[in-house]
Amino acid sequence: QKENPTYTIGFSQCIGSDLWRKTMLEEIKIELSLHPGAKLIYKEANGNSKLQVLQAQDMIRKGIDILIISPNEAQPLTPVVEQAYNKGIPVIIIDRKTASSAYTAYVGADNFQIGKMAGEYAGEVLKGKGNIVEVLGLPGSSPTIERQRGFIQGLKRYPDIKITNQVYGNWLGEDTKEQLNKIKNSLINIDAIFAHNDQMASASRKVINTLLDKKQIKVIGVDALPGQGGGLEMVSSGILTASVVYPTGGKEAISTAFKILNKESFSKENILQSLVIDSTNVELMKLQWNKFISQQKDIERQGSLLEEQKVLFKNQQIILNVTVIA
Ligand code: FRU
Repeated sequence: QKENPTYTIGFSQCIGSDLWRKTMLEEIKIELSLHPGAKLIYKEANGNSKLQVLQAQDMIRKGIDILIISPNEAQPLTPVVEQAYNKGIPVIIIDRKTASSAYTAYVGADNFQIGKMAGEYAGEVLKGKGNIVEVLGLPGSSPTIERQRGFIQGLKRYPDIKITNQVYGNWLGEDTKEQLNKIKNSLINIDAIFAHNDQMASASRKVINTLLDKKQIKVIGVDALPGQGGGLEMVSSGILTASVVYPTGGKEAISTAFKILNKESFSKENILQSLVIDSTNVELMKLQWNKFISQQKDIERQGSLLEEQKVLFKNQQIILNVTVIA
């Protein structure tokens, strides 16, 4: 182990532009600030698996001590992750998985469980009867497959609930609007929509509001992000009926990375907790979040005070030295 190791961490992100991914990067940066000297190489593939493969290959070629990767789609990203792993570069898979078990650690919530929680919630809120449209994520990305399987499992106890339609929204609002408009005639007698993320859930609400103006249709999403434009706000204002919390894992990915790099013990599977947020607990969640933010700001303020003190101390020393010399 080096005395004061400066590690290079490669982070290959499948897409970078949405609030959830921005939140993940923010968490990563905050946690990294506890490890001065570590270098982050960040690449974002704009939802393009081919580009993500090239970006990851480039990182491996240039030399990184560890790779953190959220694979856009499982299959296309499997070979490059295996390549890194087989070369002896530790790999942390975050949120989306590959199709292989060749990785050092996984950080993220259990997507099967998330789908199941959404199914059980839908069953309860519809009182065991109704028609649901499911808006799925991108076909080849692992949370889509796992959330779908979980959702069916969650609805098992409710034989009078039917999934009448399934469309792929590819994790995006625009695609969701397009796909739902294609099946608009069959939306007339639906009672709920389960969308695999909040971006698609909010787009779904917009579509039903313009096409049907049926406010009583339940819309359930996933992510429940705090802050402006996040799922908590949308549950609070009634755009969404509920959302299942999907933690980004940014902080845990970095802390796991340092455990691996420093040869400390770590778990291969790091499963983060989720829960359903609806009108009964959303205000509490928002309160807790605001408290967290104000603590965070206090820490930042203390940090900059400390920096000011350091500068002051340095200047005083310079003056002192000058006086001594004179
Ligand atoms: C963000 C996102 C989230 C979703 C996750 C699944 O890019 O679409 O909304 O929960 O990816 O990997």
